[in-house]
Amino acid sequence: MRIIRAKDYCEMSRRAAEIIASEVILKPDCVLGLATGSSPVGTYDELVKMYKDGALDFSGVRTVNLDEYCGLDITSDQSYVWFMHHHLFDRVNIRPENTHFPDGKQADAQKACAEYDAVMEKTGRTDLQLLGLGPDGHIGFNEPEDFFPAGTHKVALTDSTIQANKRFFSSEEEVPRFAYTMGVAGIMKARRVLMVVSGKSKAGILKEALCGPVVPQVPASVLQLHPDFVLVADEEALSEME
Ligand code: F6R
Repeated sequence: MRIIRAKDYCEMSRRAAEIIASEVILKPDCVLGLATGSSPVGTYDELVKMYKDGALDFSGVRTVNLDEYCGLDITSDQSYVWFMHHHLFDRVNIRPENTHFPDGKQADAQKACAEYDAVMEKTGRTDLQLLGLGPDGHIGFNEPEDFFPAGTHKVALTDSTIQANKRFFSSEEEVPRFAYTMGVAGIMKARRVLMVVSGKSKAGILKEALCGPVVPQVPASVLQLHPDFVLVADEEALSEME
């Protein structure tokens, strides 16, 4: 595990974007695993800046996103498809057909999950998987469980996640209760995993995930076992690890 300490969210975003950019430069047809949420927004902004400066070309890049809410239309501005278009895809020269998500509109969960596992198989091994850290230790939407779920699966969001995500919706009732998420095996098979964590509110769970036992009740703790795990976190997030 490598820990890169950043002063604040801006520096965290810059450092994470540099790591992703180096991947794209060294392997123009790389597969990037991408995340949504507030943590990576600054990273995406930095990547867009590099693209606009002519330093990055996304035309060969392929992406697989971690998760999608069940039931939301992709045109909904709360869907993760919309999020990715808004924050990254529509601002760089990535080919839309090279971007992939679980199909949140597919009501048959078994079908949706099998289809996404097949998409990931076809896309090939993820070169770099970007992650945020949930307040309950979730990665993707792999919530605390008694086991580590391997493949893509349907999850019932925990109350902690619903509370954390309601800020993106006009009311708590609107937060979808279910999502499809890449499983822990899908995340762990990436060649490199890059996690971005910012803010005091994540300090406790970050310490638990990285310094505590590897247990499925803290899904992010599994990252301790990844051979190439890079954490870029700001001082506040790292404040309990000193
Ligand atoms: C999003 C995702 C989630 C978030 C996590 C942290 O695709 O998979 O695991 O990374 O909920 O969210 P933020 O960054 O909003 O604190």
